[in-house]
Amino acid sequence: MNILNLYGSLNGHTEKVAFEIEKAVAGAGHAIRTVNVKKDDSVIDLLEYDLTFIGSGVYTWLPGKPVLNWMEKQMAHARKNDLILPGSPRVPGKFVCVYCTYAGPHTGEAEAVPALKYMGQLFDHLGITVADEWSVVGAFVPEKMRHFNASGRLGNIEGRPNAEDLKQVREKTGGLLESIRSYSVV
Ligand SMILES: Cc1cc2nc3c(=O)[nH]c(=O)nc-3n(C[C@H](O)[C@H](O)[C@H](O)COP(=O)(O)O)c2cc1C
Repeated sequence: MNILNLYGSLNGHTEKVAFEIEKAVAGAGHAIRTVNVKKDDSVIDLLEYDLTFIGSGVYTWLPGKPVLNWMEKQMAHARKNDLILPGSPRVPGKFVCVYCTYAGPHTGEAEAVPALKYMGQLFDHLGITVADEWSVVGAFVPEKMRHFNASGRLGNIEGRPNAEDLKQVREKTGGLLESIRSYSVV
């Protein structure tokens, strides 16, 4: 399979997850192109890829600026080229996995949901099926916000994403590849 791995990351947590995905995908023998949209926000033909991963940190419930900006460019391109059709007909064999890293200090797991849904909508509008949504815990890095790491709804999240979180990402990546591979064979 041909796989795209997009991410935006302000403090490096989402980048860690993106690199785990890259390792797991390459280890399974698939071609993967990893793009940090903060460094390269070029428009991409998303239908060239069988599976896209897209991830961002959560900032006030939504993806961070790099991913929001990239999505805006992609949407402008899609509109200009009439790629968004009524009913958003499915493009067979094209999938996306959306994920975020988040701290959930106020409302816990619910705080990851708007960012996941927001990122998924771009792909769903293009007919690309949302195959999975992952939320990975990522602690606050700025000193003045670190008190949230021990006092929020998710309990003590200092040091996350940790080795166990990243192991889960590798395992879930393997599971998703297997699921999509068997779907495209059928
Ligand atoms: C300014 C700022 C705002 C944040 N806002 C939220 C938020 O609204 N909800 C949340 O769950 N996490 C929030 N976080 C935590 C980040 O989403 C989390 O640390 C994430 O792992 C950062 O990912 P990144 O380093 O890849 O950008 C915020 C962090 C910062 C620094």
